[in-house]
Amino acid sequence: MNKIQGKVAIITGGASGIGEATARLFAKHGARVVIADIQDDLGNNVSLSIGLDRCTYTHCDITDEAQVKSLVDSTVEIHGQLDIMFSNAGIFSKSDQFVMDLDIHELDRLFAVNVRGMAACVKHAAHAMVERGVKGSIICTSSVLGRIGVMERTDYCMSKHAVLGLMKSASKQLGKHGIRVNCVSPYVVATPLMCDAFEKEGTEIEKMYEPLTSLKDLVLKKEDVADAVLFLAGGESGFITGHDLVVDGGKQSLDDIERDEEVLETSNMTPKYKRRKVSATRDFPPCCGPAINQGVSSLDSNSEDSSEEPSEGKEEEPDTTSGDEE
Ligand SMILES: NC(=O)c1ccc[n+]([C@@H]2O[C@H](COP(=O)([O-])OP(=O)(O)OC[C@H]3O[C@@H](n4cnc5c(N)ncnc54)[C@H](O)[C@@H]3O)[C@@H](O)[C@H]2O)c1
Repeated sequence: MNKIQGKVAIITGGASGIGEATARLFAKHGARVVIADIQDDLGNNVSLSIGLDRCTYTHCDITDEAQVKSLVDSTVEIHGQLDIMFSNAGIFSKSDQFVMDLDIHELDRLFAVNVRGMAACVKHAAHAMVERGVKGSIICTSSVLGRIGVMERTDYCMSKHAVLGLMKSASKQLGKHGIRVNCVSPYVVATPLMCDAFEKEGTEIEKMYEPLTSLKDLVLKKEDVADAVLFLAGGESGFITGHDLVVDGGKQSLDDIERDEEVLETSNMTPKYKRRKVSATRDFPPCCGPAINQGVSSLDSNSEDSSEEPSEGKEEEPDTTSGDEE
């Protein structure tokens, strides 16, 4: 069954990774897709391979609001309306970005894409939907790192918290127009973004992270995230708004912390990616946020949780994470 038959969808960052997989899935389910990206060759190739009758490519740098407005306007002009905005384009920190060494210029660069660009996409999609009375669906890509504090990549973590704030506010403000706004928050997916960050092949990244989720013998693929996005885009989620759909194979659970340490230590799979060595806990790659963070994610802080007690043999650290949640 085609779940979004005839719907018009924009996907930012659709030339690669999660966006590309979602473009393919949306087209398969009957949508007319506009891919927006800055990688023109890749984007054009993706749209060609899907079929130009179902998918087109538009160059759009989301850091430039005028380009975002033009993307939305041209989509509406060509297709009549906009039903779905998947605001997904994002970049990763270029360095460790520890708080005390924070490169503010780099932070600005990252925020221009992950936060400002994301906000511009939500803003102009909302305008197009409200003006035409479309009860549309807006989905933003956050991350599991949008809920917790981490030991590295502070700017990326901050940006994904901001995406959740954007989504929560927009969902409240746009609900009266029947527009739903939600987030999808993946755990580690071996896309070019991650491969570049870790300087590793996708299969290596998958091997590294596979033991760290609750679901055994399964690896998170970009197609799994696309499935979640399709659910949020279509009628099956018609009463869901203001929601952060985490796609993490059970990774959010705090009781994973100790298990993860054991797994990586005993399986000799500690990644080469290490810019420092402070403690066993801190040797996790940055996207293992929940594993790195000995503090308590505020999402979980209301639940009964014994993990606030440092476990035997583990380096005790001051709790710096309280109040990190919106
Ligand atoms: N891969 C993961 O492990 C992971 C985990 C959690 C969240 N995410 C998020 O998922 C989203 C998609 O990332 P991905 O993993 O598919 O990476 P990716 O690098 O494969 O895709 C990101 C796309 O965004 C595009 N992009 C970057 N800057 C842009 C700009 N200024 N304007 C328009 N397009 C731009 C890139 O060209 C690229 O095609 C990002 O928001 C990322 O933060 C990824």
